[in-house]
Amino acid sequence: MHTDKIIAAPETVGIIMDGNGRWAQARSLPRKEGHTKGMINLIEIASAAFRLGAKNVVCYSLSTENLNREKDELEHILSLVLRYFDAFVDAFRSRKVCAKFVGRLDLLPEEIRYSLLRTESLLAEFAGTGRTIYIAIAYGSRAEIVDAVNKAISRGEPVTEQELLAELSFPLELDLIIRTGGERRLSNFFLYQGAYAELYFSDRYFPDFSKEDLHEAFEWYASRQRRRGLVL
Ligand code: IPE
Ligand code: IPE
Ligand code: MG
Repeated sequence: MHTDKIIAAPETVGIIMDGNGRWAQARSLPRKEGHTKGMINLIEIASAAFRLGAKNVVCYSLSTENLNREKDELEHILSLVLRYFDAFVDAFRSRKVCAKFVGRLDLLPEEIRYSLLRTESLLAEFAGTGRTIYIAIAYGSRAEIVDAVNKAISRGEPVTEQELLAELSFPLELDLIIRTGGERRLSNFFLYQGAYAELYFSDRYFPDFSKEDLHEAFEWYASRQRRRGLVL
């Protein structure tokens, strides 16, 4: 198994965890089963990313658009926050990783919001370690950008690119974005922060995406030449 730390691991990684529903449907299981597997795998894969040397890992777990899914499926996805609360806190506590939730948390039921805030506070002591797991939930990049621009307008001062970045709920540049599940699109995931991210697409459905697959993605990243518009 490849678990060695990678030289030149991406510092900030985004993971679009797609394909839970199709994973379940391919096994004649209800889509919900795929979401449960996906939640378990989120903890595994994010932990592995820190082990390989990443400092910030941001996982896309629910978009604002996903809030319009069928009630039953949505309620199940949200219930996983409560069901895996302990496992999540224990896993990241043991790695001394701090947690932050980004998105329109006000659109979530109060019980869920409370659980997210409690998770953040239980891991807040690790803020100084330089390792943070971010969960994008009820998140949409366009809305995040519009909110940041409106904040800047209300102050009546023009902002620079760096200042606008600092206004965002996730104020970091992404080095690598991984999308599982076979689609080649960003689906409203960190459009501003990902301007120069390397994009890695895997055909595996997220519940099947393994630590070995992650290692492969990181190795691929390490082989890229990041020119940022220059001639190197
Ligand atoms: C990703 O899996 C998780 C969420 C969007 C909540 P999907 O539920 O989109 O799974 P597919 O893409 O339909 O297989
Ligand atoms: C993106 O997946 C959102 C998450 C993985 C949470 P979707 O399944 O919602 O994206 P589309 O509909 O294929 O663009
Ligand atoms: Mg999908």
